[in-house]
Amino acid sequence: MCGWVDRRRDHGGVIFLDLRDREGVVQVVFDPDCGEHFTTADRVRPEYVVRVTGRVRERSPETVNPDMATGAIEVYGATLSILNAAETPPFQLDEHIRVGEEVRLHHRYLDLRRPEMQRNLRLRARVTAFVRRFLEDNGFLDIETPILTRATPEGARDYLVPSRTHPGRFFALPQSPQLFKQLLMVSGFDRYYQIARCFRDEDLRADRQPEFTQVDIEASFVDEKEVMAATEQMVAGLFTEVLGVELGTFPRMTHAEAMARFGSDKPDLRIPLELVDIKDLMGGVEFKVFAAPAADPQGRVTALRLPGGGALTRKQIDDYTAFVARYGARGLAYIKVNDAADVDQGLQSPIVKFLPAETRRAILARVGAENGDLIFFGADKAGVVAESLGALRCRLGEDLQLYDRDWAPLWVVDFPMFERAPGGGWTSLHHPFTSPSVDAVGLVADPGAALSRAYDMVLNGTELGGGSVRIHSPGMQAAVFDILGIDAAAQREKFGFLLDALKYGCPPHAGIAFGLDRLVMLMLGAGSIRDVIAFPKTQSAQCLLTDAPGVVGAESLRELHIALRSAQQ
Ligand code: AMO
Ligand code: AMP
Repeated sequence: MCGWVDRRRDHGGVIFLDLRDREGVVQVVFDPDCGEHFTTADRVRPEYVVRVTGRVRERSPETVNPDMATGAIEVYGATLSILNAAETPPFQLDEHIRVGEEVRLHHRYLDLRRPEMQRNLRLRARVTAFVRRFLEDNGFLDIETPILTRATPEGARDYLVPSRTHPGRFFALPQSPQLFKQLLMVSGFDRYYQIARCFRDEDLRADRQPEFTQVDIEASFVDEKEVMAATEQMVAGLFTEVLGVELGTFPRMTHAEAMARFGSDKPDLRIPLELVDIKDLMGGVEFKVFAAPAADPQGRVTALRLPGGGALTRKQIDDYTAFVARYGARGLAYIKVNDAADVDQGLQSPIVKFLPAETRRAILARVGAENGDLIFFGADKAGVVAESLGALRCRLGEDLQLYDRDWAPLWVVDFPMFERAPGGGWTSLHHPFTSPSVDAVGLVADPGAALSRAYDMVLNGTELGGGSVRIHSPGMQAAVFDILGIDAAAQREKFGFLLDALKYGCPPHAGIAFGLDRLVMLMLGAGSIRDVIAFPKTQSAQCLLTDAPGVVGAESLRELHIALRSAQQ
């Protein structure tokens, strides 16, 4: 056996070595009968690399360790050779929590020796292998697309690479292989896949990395039904094989329904709480907080009933009020339902005094309130209400462990084609190559009302993947660019190659991409995407191990035709 010394214990003349490799740990025993090898065993220290021969034997009953996979046996050592010594590591592997993530990332090669990390990366490899096998078996062809390329719009900032041979020009790293996979459809590779690295310079969160991996898929002569059916089968099959979990048939929900009932386009269906709109009940009330959004066509007034929530303390409610404020909510009105039958004395709330008795009664009936419940309220622009109460719903699910099942997959469909850009105009909700479900005339007439043929796969409140039926007509593609405010010259300059390709016999096509890192993270129940990536970046997009991004010397900069500005300029 070869491996690393995990621990060494000296029990009065007998030396126990725990030997570790990627599969696990086994106990090796050396006693003085082993001669020089016993002396060697006395010299080894944690993380030494050794080779051992010996005889496997059963442990005596009183020394069996039921917590250890190999705890019923041990190896009685015959020889031991030290292949390499190790300095005392900067942290003991089982003390990773104490040292914190920065130290771990700094010495990632040691951190990766931990059994959890070994297990995570092994599971990741199994996932990749399953996905490849599934796609190969279904006739998909693995084709690589360029990393040095032009900008591919997916809504984030690009990572740019300066060109030495073309002064003042830059490559962009792909945010996804989107444009190339569409061009491959034009070329007749009617089923494509790639385990593709993508790069996005965006604000990072627990489930985002600047460099991440997609399972990227595209097919010709298919529509949304076929893409969804095939990839649902892939993900369900993966869960069965790797986790032994049956996900069942994924329900479908329109984007509008998801926003109305859960305040999110990626609802976590494990949480049995729903938003209930009460805008129509606010007609006559004088309470401005509710009446103003009720009178605003863009406004929304919504209740969220928490069964048994009457037990929440004032402090907890204050914390939740501060929490929703992060999403722009200006308050968090609530009613504690002590006695649902008595709307005069039975309700405890800072706002009931502003609501007529019949309004109180109507709210209780609408949300199905029972004694002991708490009802939260959000009243604002529809977007603020959805975001804040949607986030509160997830937070309550987590804090109070309300989950009614382990896995809740679904498809979200019928997304709006566009949303209002912050500075006016429109932006694509998915990306500009997504087909609308109306014709070009209808689209131009009312872009805000148009739905797209996009679909997202959501699991436990995380967006696992997204895709769409693509535009395959140059006229429709130009119409979408027009609505996005990309004028003819810019269309030519940025996407001329695509518009041309669409003219030369482009088949109807559709596709999807899954976030591989997120998928593995969910399957493992890992708290961070960094735990499923061998060499991840920090929240501030740095690699602590190699200290990248790094400083570049003057000579290299000159070669790249780059002059740095000082911070003040
Ligand atoms: P989209 O932008 O939705 O679609 O990306 C697809 C999936 O990739 C994952 N993902 C990420 N994972 C980790 N870190 C990130 N920064 C990150 N950004 C995205 C998500 C997401 O669902 N070209 C289209 C797909 C298509 O239309 O075929 C695209 O890239 O899980
Ligand atoms: P105020 O009249 O601002 O003191 O608010 C009365 C109650 O309504 C308080 O419990 C606030 O938290 C709540 N509240 C204020 N604004 C909103 C809002 N936009 N949505 C929900 N509740 C609110």
